[in-house]
Amino acid sequence: MTKNSTKAAVLPLNQILAGDSIEVMNSLPEASVDLIFADPPYNLQLKGDLHRPDNSKVDAVDDHWDQFASFRIYDEFTRAWLAAARRLLKPNGAIWVIGSYHNVFRMGAEIQNQGYWILNDVVWRKSNPMPNFRGKRLTNAHETLIWASKSEDSKYTFNYEALKALNEGVQMRSDWVLPICTGHERLKDENGDKAHPTQKPEALLHRVILGTTNPGDVVLDPFFGTGTTGAVAKMLGRDYIGIERETSYRTAAEKRLAKIRKFDKETLSVSTSKRAEPRVPFGQLVERGMLRPGEVLVGPRGHVAKVRADGTLISGEAKGSIHQVGAALEHAPSCNGWTYWHFKREGKTVSIDVLRQQIRAEMT
Ligand SMILES: C[S@@+](CC[C@H](N)C(=O)[O-])C[C@H]1O[C@@H](n2cnc3c(N)ncnc32)[C@H](O)[C@@H]1O
Repeated sequence: MTKNSTKAAVLPLNQILAGDSIEVMNSLPEASVDLIFADPPYNLQLKGDLHRPDNSKVDAVDDHWDQFASFRIYDEFTRAWLAAARRLLKPNGAIWVIGSYHNVFRMGAEIQNQGYWILNDVVWRKSNPMPNFRGKRLTNAHETLIWASKSEDSKYTFNYEALKALNEGVQMRSDWVLPICTGHERLKDENGDKAHPTQKPEALLHRVILGTTNPGDVVLDPFFGTGTTGAVAKMLGRDYIGIERETSYRTAAEKRLAKIRKFDKETLSVSTSKRAEPRVPFGQLVERGMLRPGEVLVGPRGHVAKVRADGTLISGEAKGSIHQVGAALEHAPSCNGWTYWHFKREGKTVSIDVLRQQIRAEMT
């Protein structure tokens, strides 16, 4: 059975499930999901209408699904859904939650209490935030995400090189400057009003899904809304499961997802870390006859060494691995032997790394 057919047999992949997220999550098989992205109710506790200086009413999040009678009730809800989510995660799975100052600290404490392991918090700095109309507090210009693995021991997925490439070769930091969802991306209902008050930008999910899952992984969103997580997961060749209680949001999400096309396979493969590539010991090149014992290797400044039968090198007094002998000859603390040493074939000088790449290509 392939990995995909196993999960297809038990999981409702690429579907939006109707109902209460805690109940639905508890009905799904344990340890079956790679990543959970959760954008739960914020419990904004808004009191009264908010107006702009021109007296127009601000379209705030005052929906019934965001109302909780007290912090205690919100905490009980948070505890229950985080426990249901953790049960669903594979041992190496991870969760992202997003929230504002109203709820993110309550979620953060519960995440730690339940045995998840926080990996980072990320500040999503909104490049186009809504102003503070009353002028009584700072403009609320960010939301916080928490990224946590299922446990301290989880070997969670982190596509370091892919995120670095996305950031033009600079290590991705924990502060992300992205606009809120506007323009053509914002879904509208039949009256031209926002289909959902808190639709998240696809760019945010792009970073999360590209950086912390692999193609074919299962991404579950227990507060699916209009399906931003599903839309990005589908484009990126991941399977999604959405849970949403409100019919109108499910309908908007279904319509949206039907129009999404998966990117082709070639564009989906991302930069990988050298560390993630299979390790090839230099001795394998000798065992396989790609280099013979006694063959002479040359360094960039003319140093030479001979290959020995056990995959070590010898050059005068210096003996050891390709790295150790290179470092000794250069009087350097370390040396990457794979890029340092070359051999001769048909009059040409070739890096030994070419042979390693040949072996790696056979492994994939
Ligand atoms: C903050 S919004 C998520 C928006 C979504 N990220 C998007 O981009 O469209 C939270 C959603 O959770 C849903 N919801 C709240 N409580 C729920 C529950 N107990 N079970 C299922 N859905 C729930 C709400 O209807 C709402 O659509």
